[in-house]
Formats: sequence, C-alpha cells, structure tokens
Amino acid sequence: MQLLDGKALSDLTKAQLKEKVDQRIAEGKKRPHLAAILVGNDGGSETYVGSKIRSCEEIGYKSTLLRFEATITEAELLAEIKKVNDNDDIDGLIVQLPLPKHISVERVIESTDPEKDVDGFHPVNVGRMVQGLPCFLPATPNGIMKILEHYKIDTIGKECVVIGRSDIVGTPMSILMSRNTNPGNATVTLCHSKTKDLRGHTLKADIIISATGIPNSVTADMVKDGAVVIDVGTTRVPDTSKKSGFRLSGDVDFVNVSPKCSYITPVPGGVGPMTIGSLMLNTLQAAANKD
Ligand code: GUN
Repeated sequence: MQLLDGKALSDLTKAQLKEKVDQRIAEGKKRPHLAAILVGNDGGSETYVGSKIRSCEEIGYKSTLLRFEATITEAELLAEIKKVNDNDDIDGLIVQLPLPKHISVERVIESTDPEKDVDGFHPVNVGRMVQGLPCFLPATPNGIMKILEHYKIDTIGKECVVIGRSDIVGTPMSILMSRNTNPGNATVTLCHSKTKDLRGHTLKADIIISATGIPNSVTADMVKDGAVVIDVGTTRVPDTSKKSGFRLSGDVDFVNVSPKCSYITPVPGGVGPMTIGSLMLNTLQAAANKD
C-alpha cells in the first residue's frame, strides 16, 4: 500500500508556480491577483479561505479577501461580484461555499465572469469541460487528476466508481475520469444516495473516489484487493483530545481499508491540499489568459 501524498504534491506545485510568477514579473507581466468572497463565519470556510489566501502569499500572487456578514442580501452580494468582475486588476474570483440559505448559489455562480471563474463552477466552464474545450476545471476533481497523473496511476479502461454526485466534486469527477485523456479513459459509474447496491458496484471497482462527507462509510468489505481509493471527505467530528475540539474524518474507514489498497489518500494530507494547488494553477492561467 502506498500513500498518495497530496500535501507534498501541493508543495511542489506551489514551488513551481512561484518560479513562474517570478519569471512573469521579470518579464514585466502582471502579478496574478485572486479575490475571495467569504460570507458569514462558518468554521470550515474560514479555514479554507485562510489557506487559499496564505497560498497566494507563498506563491507571490496578490490576494484580496472580501468579507461580508451572513445578513448580506443577495442583491448586495451580486453587486459586490459585479465590482470584482469590473476590476481589471483582479484575475480570479472565488465565492466560498456554502452560502447562507437566503442567497441563491446558482445566481451567484452565474453572475461571476466566466473568465475569472477559477473555481470552474460557471455553466460556461462546466459546458466547456464536458466538451473537452479549454476552461477552468473545478479544483477538487482536477486536484485528484493531478494526483493520479503524478503517481502514474493507470486509469485507462479501469472500472472507476465515484460515490456522490455534487456539482463541486462527484459530477465533474465522473466527467473528467471518463474523458479521452490520460489520466481518464476509465469506465465510470456514478453512485449516489439512491444507488441500490453500492457495495456491488464498489467491489468491482479498480478505482473508488468517495465524495459524500459521510465518515467511515467506505468500509473494507466494499473494497477489492489492490484497489486505488481516493477519499474526498473532510468532515469535522468532535474530538476532545484536540485543542480545536474536532478532527477531520474522511469518508473511508482508513484503518481497515488501507491494507487492501494499492494506493490510498490520507485525510488530512491527501486530496485537500491538492485542491488548493489546482486553484492556484487556475489563478495563474486566468492571469496568463490576459497577457
Ligand atoms: N466549498 C467547498 N469546496 C469549495 C470549492 O472548491 N470552492 C468554493 N468556492 N467553495 C467550496
């Protein structure tokens, strides 16, 4: 069993990006600039946005964090997004999800300029992804593709089961793995909450990608020997032994599943860090698209 070290790959990606930024600046080109919008005080969102801003600083991007109270109206938020769209210095924009219930995620995503949509959530980018056209790929699925590529994991013609069909992870993951690319070219089954015999599907899988946010839901009896297991879960579970009062739990019962795997991502230190690595790649791309 080999661990897929997303943290190390993310550090490598960021070091390579820093070199590219230094080179851009030496050539008199613009410093990439990412804006992040954070609404409210959700603990997880605070952490993720904080890491994104810190990564920008490490690489040498400019960053702007725009914070709003959870009481901001949808119209006010859309007006803030328009200001970012109209600001020529800003190359990329992310609006951290989830948003408060009174705000429509669809309207927020559709109001983002597709050319600044470094999350790859806008319908224009999703459509272009499906058609294999140049676009911003969503960070988590693309981070997983980068991990598979880096570790030279053979995906061609393999049985791949994706568990969870969210717009952010499961659905785009199923598309990327089934495209005529390498990594890719897998035979993909997208399982979800209405799937009848989940274990029947996962037991046939060479590659399992779980993105449900249900701790320990992928158990050893569901995994065949030699499988590759990618765990996207990062659920906060109470843990009094931790200073923060919680620990992060993946979807996979790591202790019992890992001995059966050829490769597996740990939580933390697997998919999560590479998600930020791929957001940083998209941000450089957004700036380079304007050169
Ligand atoms: N919330 C969970 N994942 C993501 C992500 O990739 N981007 C944004 N903006 N919000 C998220």
